Amino acid sequence: MRCFLPARCYTGLPSELGSKRRLNDWLFSHYASLRPINSWVSKVAIDAFRGSGSVSLLLKTFFHELHSNDISQVSWWVGQGLLANQHQHLPKALLETLLLAPDVVGVAQADLSPSVFSTRHAQALDRWLAVAQATHDPIHQALLYCLIIRCAKAFVGFPTTLGTSNRPLAEALDGIRDWAAINPKRLQDQSVARLLLPTGTILMREAEKLNRSVIQGAPVTLYRQDAVTFLQSTPADVVYLDPPYAGTTAYESSNRVLNRLLGEDTQQGSSRFSQSTDSLRELFNASQHIPDWILSYGSKAIDLDSLVALVQQHAGHRKVVGFQKQYTHLSHVSQDTDHHELLIIAISEDTPWN
Ligand SMILES: C[S@@+](CC[C@H](N)C(=O)[O-])C[C@H]1O[C@@H](n2cnc3c(N)ncnc32)[C@H](O)[C@@H]1O
Repeated sequence: MRCFLPARCYTGLPSELGSKRRLNDWLFSHYASLRPINSWVSKVAIDAFRGSGSVSLLLKTFFHELHSNDISQVSWWVGQGLLANQHQHLPKALLETLLLAPDVVGVAQADLSPSVFSTRHAQALDRWLAVAQATHDPIHQALLYCLIIRCAKAFVGFPTTLGTSNRPLAEALDGIRDWAAINPKRLQDQSVARLLLPTGTILMREAEKLNRSVIQGAPVTLYRQDAVTFLQSTPADVVYLDPPYAGTTAYESSNRVLNRLLGEDTQQGSSRFSQSTDSLRELFNASQHIPDWILSYGSKAIDLDSLVALVQQHAGHRKVVGFQKQYTHLSHVSQDTDHHELLIIAISEDTPWN
């Protein structure tokens, strides 16, 4: 298996359930065995469900041009800060402005504390959000929002499941719940030690990680559209499809808190892609003009053979191949140890690449 990007390049991306950072090498080694890597440099790629941006970062590095889409506000800031941005880092002076920012009451204290964040963490988030809102340079502003997203995740016990499950810890930190009422597991892992750190320490640590993911590559155009609408109107040579898997919704509740923090008024409901495998048909119909398709999927609602058959129904002249790998997202907390990650590649044999 080939290694496409050093692990340090991914460290600035938000940790998200469903992120492909640990699967990228497996996914794209299979694609490279069908389309040689040295042909990618002249081709246009699409990432239709950007999420944390891990696949977009790889495509930006190896392809000629990238169109990167996601419906969520959180993913939009990641796209602006770490994908469309080719070389700007978070400057020290801006970090100092955050450290010296005056207190202000905002959405974190008013709506998300103590249900998600302790008072001290909510105060820091509100101060930093006020600085981000007042920042004029669009790349610096996006980097600040990416940094705040990272810090918000560092301010809860389980960064990947940001939500009201953190209330017990937030209340214990605020002194309104007894520590004896906290799940003992929380006291054994490193989360409480992290939650007790000064907020400025977390800020500087996360900023350093964020800056590591600013890398130069192909031009990236960002979109925030429904994937089907986006695909219908975007020409490309290859599309990567990583929709929410049928039967999974955990990342949506985590995004709900972040979207609220980032001032998003309209909250997304559960994606239709989480409901059933039927919505995959819409994606294939909208991708007919794109020669090569790469699809990631989970085994919860469909097995490999059935998924290959489903893609084949829509793939026309394309050659369809399927692969699977036993894989547990968040292996340290997940109960689901029987999960397989499915990969389907449909190659247009009418379109030889060189
Ligand atoms: C499995 S995640 C993508 C993970 C991504 N490949 C990564 O490595 O982080 C699915 C993404 O689909 C997005 N999404 C859900 N419904 C959508 C829709 N109708 N159109 C576009 N994006 C959608 C979600 O916001 C989420 O970021």
